[in-house]
Amino acid sequence: MRLMIFSDIHGNLEALQRVFADADKRNIHRSICLGDLMGYGPYPNECVELVKSRKNCRCLAGNHDVAALWDTSPYGMSKSAQDAILWTMEQLSDANKKYLGSLPDRIDLFNMTFVHANPYNPRGWRYVMDRKYALRSFAATSCQYLFIGHSHKPLVITRKNFFSIDLQAVSGPQKITVKAQRRHIVNCGSVGQPRDNNPDACYLIFDIRTNTLEYYRVPYDFKKTTQAIRLFELPSSTGRRLLKGT
Ligand SMILES: [Fe+2]
Repeated sequence: MRLMIFSDIHGNLEALQRVFADADKRNIHRSICLGDLMGYGPYPNECVELVKSRKNCRCLAGNHDVAALWDTSPYGMSKSAQDAILWTMEQLSDANKKYLGSLPDRIDLFNMTFVHANPYNPRGWRYVMDRKYALRSFAATSCQYLFIGHSHKPLVITRKNFFSIDLQAVSGPQKITVKAQRRHIVNCGSVGQPRDNNPDACYLIFDIRTNTLEYYRVPYDFKKTTQAIRLFELPSSTGRRLLKGT
């Protein structure tokens, strides 16, 4: 089976459309979205509807999704994130609010677990980017593969033994075949707001048969997204971040 894994769309419809078009050429069987359909970007309803309508696709709740429903407070977020969430709350249709409210915090499938941020405190939203939180995540799960989003930075963490892990930041498109007998935490990067100094949309295909992580980067017309950010008077810093991939 070839599984598409994507995350952190953040209302960037242009990027999401290009990513789906790219993935649909690559023989995938199922898709899983790790959350954050909204926040920052100008098209929250359209992104929800596109993910909802996708066949064989399941979706998790991210921190911006639950903040847009007031399930958690947006006031702990950065000013630009907070302003965008308050705007998003006013835009969301009732049907899309209902859909967001139905999303789970975790999906388990075969030897894989999927969460937005971390598996030990799902709505605490702590990033898993270093040894301490990687070890805590391994301890909280028994899966062989743990897929995460949230940081917007593609990363592969491999457990070498009980105390020792290997962290590999993934830059650009890459195919990485991992050792089947080891445990891994895999961050699939971000579709709609990459933060690894590469503005191209990022997503992942996991080929379960060959244990291969295929990272893809997809150029999209980010000027369209930044124009819409200006049009809807969303924080201009978001547009600048998209141009640089930060
Ligand atoms: Fe995010």
